Amino acid sequence: MSATARPQVSALSSSRIRDIANAGMGRTDITAFWFGEGDEVTPPFIRDAAQKALAEGETFYVHNLGLPQLREAVAAYESKLQAIASSPEQIAITGSGVSALMIANQLIVSPDDKVVVITPIWPNIAEAPRLLGANIVRFPLNVANGKWSLDLDQLLDTLTPDTRMVIVNAPNNPTGFTLDQDAQKAILNHCRRHGIWVLSDEVYERLIFDGSEAAPSMLRHADPEDRIIRVNSFSKAWRMTGWRLGWLTLPLSLMPDVPKVIEYNTSCAPSFVQKGGLAALTDPRGEQTIAALKSGLAASRSTLLDGLAHMGRIEIPDADGAMYAFFRIEGEPDDMATAKALVTDYGLGLAPGSAFGPEGEGWLRWCFAAKPENIAIGLERLERFLRRS
Ligand SMILES: Cc1ncc(COP(=O)(O)O)c(C=O)c1O
Repeated sequence: MSATARPQVSALSSSRIRDIANAGMGRTDITAFWFGEGDEVTPPFIRDAAQKALAEGETFYVHNLGLPQLREAVAAYESKLQAIASSPEQIAITGSGVSALMIANQLIVSPDDKVVVITPIWPNIAEAPRLLGANIVRFPLNVANGKWSLDLDQLLDTLTPDTRMVIVNAPNNPTGFTLDQDAQKAILNHCRRHGIWVLSDEVYERLIFDGSEAAPSMLRHADPEDRIIRVNSFSKAWRMTGWRLGWLTLPLSLMPDVPKVIEYNTSCAPSFVQKGGLAALTDPRGEQTIAALKSGLAASRSTLLDGLAHMGRIEIPDADGAMYAFFRIEGEPDDMATAKALVTDYGLGLAPGSAFGPEGEGWLRWCFAAKPENIAIGLERLERFLRRS
């Protein structure tokens, strides 16, 4: 008998973004926009709070669900931001958004369950339920009138009563697609009628470019005992990707089981990391950080979108959120080959669209969480690629 992993593990895809990044490994001449993070460190006041906690000896296990002060701060933060009534008892602090996603899946999904995922999508979102043996049904967004859009009627038809869960990620990675509140209500009402769980990944809620403070949460339309779980993270809004800190907002009826699942994953998020998160939420500099991040992103985004629009041959549907441009180049249908050529011959690192599922084939993702001057260098390299031969 061979010493191999179980079939669900062997079936997991390896990251196509990594495949491209590996092609540029060790080279210093590459301008890279392939990963979903910015190029600036976490603000000092957050790092200071964690350092203080460490200096004071916060090196012990803490509660599975997180520090009470942080759970309170999260509930207050999201209640105010989204005009909802979230309570600390509904909050579970997790060791990252990825971990929050996996814990939510472990709470709800059994082998052979039908899980519907709106795509294209950041790979971890579809792979987590697949790892648990679920049958994944991919429901693609489409491009209509130059915008990413969702065929709501068709989605509701796909959410049959035997569906265990639907996973929605808006603002979406990679397309930037956001869900309007009418669509949120329709999805929730339908799921309520059929007992379908909604897993709403809202880690990009603060990264929205329509002038609002946050993209609307699905929780705005939820009743307290609805089958809805919201995933969130400190990574994107406060530049804390390496800290590994996130949270879940769950119905109260699920809470007795949540500590058990966290116990067998990480047991708890590190205490000093949670103190960094607490500073992010409670210090006024937290909101200043987000405001500065957003205006920087808005500037980089317009440099990128204007630059791409001027090149011709590029289709880039409108979208209001997240920190990515998802586009395709006329006459370049093979995204892996294009991304490889860009990195190898032109020093430009982009993520291939097929990393986000078959719906992304032929597309490329460019993370614009970078200084406009670096975006300009990338644009110049892309232009050289387009002018080749
Ligand atoms: C849609 C989405 N959800 C969740 C995450 C997880 O973020 P983290 O694990 O850094 O908290 C990411 C990270 O890129 C993401 O794009």
